[in-house]
Amino acid sequence: MSTNLPGQSRKYESITSQRVNQIPPSGIRRFFDLLASMEGVISLGIGEPDYPTPWHIREAAIHAIEKGYTMYTSNLGIPELRQELSQHLKNSYNLDYDPNSQLLITIGVSEALDLVMRALLNPGDEVIMPDPCYVSYPACVVLAGGTPVMVPTYEKNNFEISASDIEARVSDKTKIILIGYPANPTGAVMGKEKLLQIAEVARRHQLLVIYDEIYAKLVYGVKHTCFTTLPGMKERTILLSGFSKAYAMTGWRIGYAAANKEIIAAMTKIHQYTLLCVPIMAQVAAIEALKSGEASTTEMVNEYNRRRQVMVKGLNEIGLPCFEPRGAFYAFPSIKGTGMTSQEFSERLLLEEKVAVVPGTAFGRCGEGYVRCCFATSLADIEEALSRMKRFVDKHKKEG
Ligand SMILES: Cc1ncc(COP(=O)(O)O)c(C=O)c1O
Repeated sequence: MSTNLPGQSRKYESITSQRVNQIPPSGIRRFFDLLASMEGVISLGIGEPDYPTPWHIREAAIHAIEKGYTMYTSNLGIPELRQELSQHLKNSYNLDYDPNSQLLITIGVSEALDLVMRALLNPGDEVIMPDPCYVSYPACVVLAGGTPVMVPTYEKNNFEISASDIEARVSDKTKIILIGYPANPTGAVMGKEKLLQIAEVARRHQLLVIYDEIYAKLVYGVKHTCFTTLPGMKERTILLSGFSKAYAMTGWRIGYAAANKEIIAAMTKIHQYTLLCVPIMAQVAAIEALKSGEASTTEMVNEYNRRRQVMVKGLNEIGLPCFEPRGAFYAFPSIKGTGMTSQEFSERLLLEEKVAVVPGTAFGRCGEGYVRCCFATSLADIEEALSRMKRFVDKHKKEG
């Protein structure tokens, strides 16, 4: 089908680019357009903390504005922030990153993902990643001209990606393994032993690894392993993380990439032409978060853990069996017993009971039969949502 711009005669195959045409609009956003017009909805949908940013962090940014810090910064980010971050990675993982050449401050992990794909991929290069996974992973690969290669993961294996399944998909074109734990949408966490097996595959096939650890601090009774700390992996790994989830800073739009010099230089080239730098106030806030945000994070994580327990128990009790998430703030219950698809379940639950969840298929084919419920919302709302979901499930059981 050809098309043309209004009032012009030149025909285009399509006005928008083939790359953009290849990706669907985000399944999460599409769904939330639907609920924007409704009242009285309890949302377990959007994946963000229900807390505002801790006050001392907000205050640091307010002071920055008062002092007139309203300019561009270095493309890489304010030197003091990079210094703090370097120290933070040293303290957390005993990793050494040179603040002047191996760290880049980005507009969230979102920008870092886009930059790293554009910096590394040539047309047709393949990137192996888990299914289901965070919605941006395959889209960023396609927009950079690469090809996502999905590895199915299953509840029976705790939604962990297996090294042998990765290896079975390695081809001449494979360049990168992209993984992120704790995971969105499943809440899965991968232990060190299994990550070591993936490291072995990366080494054997000379692959790069992108490790998204935006939920690193949100773990419940298990230890988070940073992939970069595994033997021989620092040079191979691009570590992405940020402030959105751990410090309740989604709206500030700040994250970072840590990698070897060559990769950071390539990512910085794109960043300097497209974004220039992260807003200075957000960078000042991030310095404060790194210096003294730990206590607030611990408090929030303890509260998420209480909510997690209520959510998981409640879902199991109403007949939606739920894998136990050990990280992030998502429960990913199976809705297979209802006989509905994830899309159908989510839409009907929203229309009939005004509870918003995200269909598992927004995160890939293997998300069919599941829905994502974010428990970063008040206990009262979680309890009310569970009681509405029980009514919904009971009603449809009877119908069935
Ligand atoms: C796994 C994962 N990575 C990255 C992001 C994007 O985070 P940011 O706010 O830093 O752009 C999200 C947001 O939900 C996420 O779940």
